[in-house]
Amino acid sequence: MKTAPKKKTAFFRTNCGSQHPRWQGQCRECGAWNTLHEEAVVAPSPARRHQTRTVEARRIPEISVENCRRISSGMEEFDRVLGGGAVPGSALLVGGEPGIGKSSLLLQVADVYGRRGYRSLYLSGEESMEQIKARADRFGIAGDAVSVANITDLDEIVTLAQDDFQFIIIDSIQTVASAAFDSPPGTVGQVRESSSRLIELVKQTGRILFLVGHITKDGLVAGPKVLEHMVDTVLYFEGDRYHLFRILRSQKNRFGPTGEIGVFEMTGGGLIEIKNPSQIFMTSTGSEPSPGRVISAASEGSRSFLVEVEALVTTSPYGTPQRVASGIDGKRLAIISAVLEKRGGVMLGGNDIFVNIAGGIQLDDTALDLAFLTAAASSKLNIAVDGGMMVVGEVGLSGDIRGVAQIDRRLAEAAKLGLKRAMIPKTNASGLTVPSGIEIIPVSTVNQALQVIR
Ligand code: TYD
Ligand code: MG
Repeated sequence: MKTAPKKKTAFFRTNCGSQHPRWQGQCRECGAWNTLHEEAVVAPSPARRHQTRTVEARRIPEISVENCRRISSGMEEFDRVLGGGAVPGSALLVGGEPGIGKSSLLLQVADVYGRRGYRSLYLSGEESMEQIKARADRFGIAGDAVSVANITDLDEIVTLAQDDFQFIIIDSIQTVASAAFDSPPGTVGQVRESSSRLIELVKQTGRILFLVGHITKDGLVAGPKVLEHMVDTVLYFEGDRYHLFRILRSQKNRFGPTGEIGVFEMTGGGLIEIKNPSQIFMTSTGSEPSPGRVISAASEGSRSFLVEVEALVTTSPYGTPQRVASGIDGKRLAIISAVLEKRGGVMLGGNDIFVNIAGGIQLDDTALDLAFLTAAASSKLNIAVDGGMMVVGEVGLSGDIRGVAQIDRRLAEAAKLGLKRAMIPKTNASGLTVPSGIEIIPVSTVNQALQVIR
């Protein structure tokens, strides 16, 4: 009696997606322990030895850029992040935590493209057609050009996608599974197989693929890390669950800039574009200045906007003082606090320090350092900082204030919002065209900055 051929399996590392022939405790690729798990693999077809030549290499001037034409959605905040619009034949990953608004965003994007005459296929493995329809109604989306199905089988998806659609939206890639694999949806092998088939499909036909990928707080569930290498563009949709602002950020873009952001606000009627972020992040304009609050200007991609940095320094009830940062990296706060104490002479050993950016946005622009530092000093010393002053500068370990990028744009934004003064790094001050109505206060050390606020 013939025995069934043994199914070929391999071990995959959940996060980095690397493949190992046998189980081992540590991943050779990324060094993580205990993360390998077994999945079936499909044997590759035997290599063709005598391949006829189907591809010709071309000199750069001979290459036509016709294919790089972009399709703009008309939704400015979205188009900017893509570098002007989506490129036919490209695959985009939209990552973000569950509940952040990815499905809503893509439904709205499909609708705006629809109004420009492009048809979309929106395939959801998470919501029923009725749920999608209910959301569309709530958001006032007619969706004449958007076809919807609740589907998770890869072959069925590929068959459906043969029809005449310009956009194919898969929500989410973690729900899609190929029957050729034993492993459940969401495992590395499934995610890899599903996305590569779908990417191949859009590349051949000049269509555009949006893949939704869920991430969790503690890094990534199976998939997105592997996916990042496969797609052309990686967008992250971010925001704080308890706030209404959402930022779409380009993390990788083969066809455009990275680090570009689009700002949205969540409403009962769907996402609305925020074309002037300064106005929403500056909640206290006109109110009385209070200790611990400092205005700064952040720069992300091609735009700058004003933000309000807040700090609260209190006497610590614990043996180990707390440093709690929201909006910036915790390590950055630890450094800023240490510099404030050691170089600025403001003793914080027995204090808890909490910092925050109003509006619940997360920024990693080091130009905000000086604002966090002065806010913490202002709270500790109980002195209010001038509410008409913008503070920017990167803080060095030795207590020096380093220059920041895009100072012109930051100042222009401050002038637009009617601020009167700007504390900026001395190195930025030379040769600067200062907008009218703004007085520049150049500083080169933490001590000089503290003298300004005292
Ligand atoms: P959803 O788009 O489902 O998030 P994700 O796909 O990232 O998991 O959004 C979560 C919930 O928030 C959903 O019930 C719809 C609601 N929502 C709004 O009411 N208004 C909005 O502007 C957005 C973006 C979402
Ligand atoms: Mg969703």
